[in-house]
Amino acid sequence: MIILGIETSCDETAAAVLEEKNGKLSVLSNIVSSQVKLHSAWGGVVPNLAAREHLKNIIPVLENSLKKAGISPKKIELISVTNGPGLIPALLIGVNAAKAFSYLWKKPLIGIHHIEGHIYANFISSKTGVNSKFQISSTKQPKSYNLKTKGSNIRFPILCLVVSGGHTQLILIKKHLQYKIVGQTLDDAAGEAFDKVARILNLGYPGGPAIAKMAMGFPISLPRRQAGKSQFPNNFKFQNSKFKIHLPRPMINSNNHNFSFSGLKTAVLYTVKKDKKLLRDKDFIAQMCHEFQQAVIDVLISKTLSAAKIYKPKTILLAGGVSANLELRKQMIRDIGNDLKNILCVMPDTLYSIDNAAMIAAAGYFRYQASKNRKALLNNWKNLEADANLVLR
Ligand code: KG4
Ligand code: ZN
Repeated sequence: MIILGIETSCDETAAAVLEEKNGKLSVLSNIVSSQVKLHSAWGGVVPNLAAREHLKNIIPVLENSLKKAGISPKKIELISVTNGPGLIPALLIGVNAAKAFSYLWKKPLIGIHHIEGHIYANFISSKTGVNSKFQISSTKQPKSYNLKTKGSNIRFPILCLVVSGGHTQLILIKKHLQYKIVGQTLDDAAGEAFDKVARILNLGYPGGPAIAKMAMGFPISLPRRQAGKSQFPNNFKFQNSKFKIHLPRPMINSNNHNFSFSGLKTAVLYTVKKDKKLLRDKDFIAQMCHEFQQAVIDVLISKTLSAAKIYKPKTILLAGGVSANLELRKQMIRDIGNDLKNILCVMPDTLYSIDNAAMIAAAGYFRYQASKNRKALLNNWKNLEADANLVLR
């Protein structure tokens, strides 16, 4: 089956072609036109500017995705588009394009919740491919982390940690397309916190990759990398530095699986407000980035592990833009390996962690499989709506 995916919920215009063969989902093309440069001047995404860019880019991106895949419209068997949540002016461009193509080409059309797309990014076959019914994308995980990710099936129940710019949730998935949110942020999402802290530290937008980079470049007394251990062990002390930064780990000991990140951002803000010179000190910025990133990681991992102990999933998945964070990936694998028995940890290739349309096509495939009335999907162009606050169900 050939599936065309379209994603325009925020600041990436994306189209992808996926091929499903015997349950294996392979990416034939994955085109993402990013608007990061445009929005970075404003320190965040401006909805109307995003919509204008999507309008300009949507047809070239679609054309490109078909060309790269070597596929003519005739071959497409399903069109899958993000119809929420997101910025409504941005969503409308992708949804409208998908509806037009569905009508013109007489193809079934499915609307996908953006977060469902992030979750199903884990079911895309990666280049490091495996031979399961639904191929799993796995990162190159060091052997010393002791987890059999490659070559293994994703098994239900699944516990998925979703960490993006708009969402931080722990979702229990007992079977395909059935979601129960067992924990979520009470204020800012993890990615939002990265972006806000980056803005406070003048590191630009998007904040996640900028902070991750600064945290890696920490200039003073890094311990030599130990095999099988994170580059920055949790208990690492910056002994030779003049800065001793310690941020809170919000809600880490609360007896639920919710999160809160806005206090962490405020703690960073108060620190730099007290002494503006700090913003010009590279050593301070690097240490602050490292401590902030570690505080977020500590909370995310601790909550995921405690939820896993209660809900006893067979697989833990990572999803969303923040799951591209290499320290989060490494430490999650290490800690699951140390703390939990027989739980598979799977995460998408970083290419599919951040916003893309291949994940929307992947989710569309599973929705299509579950559809009771596939014929009705041919007329879905009449009904499909964009919804800024679409609920995952
Ligand atoms: O999933 P995504 O691409 O878009 C949304 O659905 O929101 O996530 C974007 C978020 C941004 O907040 C960005 O700063 C964060 O993901 N992000 C990262 C990294 N790469 C992207 N956060 C931490 N480390 C990264 N390497
Ligand atoms: Zn996203």
